[in-house]
Amino acid sequence: MKRRNFLGTIGAGAAPMAAPAQSTSAASPKPLSIGLIGCGGRGSYLAQETLAVKAAGNPVDLKAVCDIYQPRLERLSTRLKAKPFSSAAAMLGEGAVDAVIVATPDRTHLPLALQAIRAGKDVYCEKPLSHWSQFDLLKQFVAEARKSKAVVQVGAQWVSDPIWTTAAQRIKQGAIGKVVHAQTGYFRYGDGGERGMPVEDPNAQPGRGLDWLAFQGDGQARPFSVSRFFQWRMYMDYAGGPIMDLYPHPLTRLLKALNVGMPERVVAVGGRYLFDGGREVPDTVDVLIEYPGGPSVSVLGTQGNASGLDTVIRGSEGTVTFDKSFGMTFTPRPGGEGASMTLNSQPFVQDHLSDWLHCIRTRQTPRCDIELGYTVQVALIMAMRSLTGRKVAFWNSSRETITMG
Ligand SMILES: NC(=O)c1ccc[n+]([C@@H]2O[C@H](COP(=O)([O-])OP(=O)(O)OC[C@H]3O[C@@H](n4cnc5c(N)ncnc54)[C@H](O)[C@@H]3O)[C@@H](O)[C@H]2O)c1
Repeated sequence: MKRRNFLGTIGAGAAPMAAPAQSTSAASPKPLSIGLIGCGGRGSYLAQETLAVKAAGNPVDLKAVCDIYQPRLERLSTRLKAKPFSSAAAMLGEGAVDAVIVATPDRTHLPLALQAIRAGKDVYCEKPLSHWSQFDLLKQFVAEARKSKAVVQVGAQWVSDPIWTTAAQRIKQGAIGKVVHAQTGYFRYGDGGERGMPVEDPNAQPGRGLDWLAFQGDGQARPFSVSRFFQWRMYMDYAGGPIMDLYPHPLTRLLKALNVGMPERVVAVGGRYLFDGGREVPDTVDVLIEYPGGPSVSVLGTQGNASGLDTVIRGSEGTVTFDKSFGMTFTPRPGGEGASMTLNSQPFVQDHLSDWLHCIRTRQTPRCDIELGYTVQVALIMAMRSLTGRKVAFWNSSRETITMG
């Protein structure tokens, strides 16, 4: 490929990859029946997205909703006119849904997603794919998902912006030469995403209408606290701070473009430098990931300052820069071939959901499939182990294990 054709036949600003078309003609397929697990902030948002996708002509029905906290369950089931379930097992057991969206806190993603694929369902699983302590469960899930051929989409929706697929194609064709270095990150100010999670009912108690055991899942049994239940992102038992909550987004996009597989070693440094007072998770973390033979990848960020950085992929023959609005610019190395070119970002949120629905019908591979999800999650788990253990995490590719040194 000539480097001057970095963007190939795609003109600046044009959509390189159309959203999957869903026919609404007389030959329309039977609507897909979806069950949503987790009726909190993200679940409610994805319910809205599903309605929007349906309104745009995609044959889909949100038939059932599930939550272990009764007030949220009632609210969403009433709004959507969907059948309420207080346990995923009951929802799956009824057999009325074709596919399941999992939008619960991190620790319950994989146990619920595993139940769903064992019941023969396709799954849209929110990021992060697992809790940071669930490496063995992650491997088990990946093995079962591969075997079952379930269509699994990881909910890192920004990867559905077509510029990442375009970047992947061009980089694979050698457009920027040998890729040696890449940077990305997540910078913002405030811990509203953790401490600011709304405590809906300060007098809530476990029991009827609030299943505290199901919330804790395979984690350590703890006495109930309203903060742990409603503000779970503050606690290492259920969350992991920026590495688990924020970095799945930039790292998934970057790894989509780089297509590098598993890391060789990962080191992470950081801590709780700004926010304290009961918050367990760090607010600032820098992660360095080395892939075999390169590139070296940096994922940097803090919640103490919103002055961010562009995502940049550096090759021996040129550079690809993704600015904050995710436009993509190719720049040849000084004296190299070709002129700078820019491709604008495209809408992507509903696309991620409709990509999953399209792949359920066609049995194609979704944009954030289990293989991409696995490579992202392994790097993030290695980063968490490095951060918490203050050591370097190494990946053993033949045994698929992590060792610390
Ligand atoms: N892709 C994105 O941009 C994005 C944005 C926000 C959140 N998320 C992810 O979505 C997930 C949920 O986040 P949130 O902000 O909606 O949290 P939330 O606390 O608002 O909602 C979680 C809901 O899950 C319910 N729940 C907990 N355990 C359950 C179980 N075993 N079975 C059924 N329901 C259970 C809770 O009662 C609660 O209503 C997180 O993993 C988060 O990382 C992704």
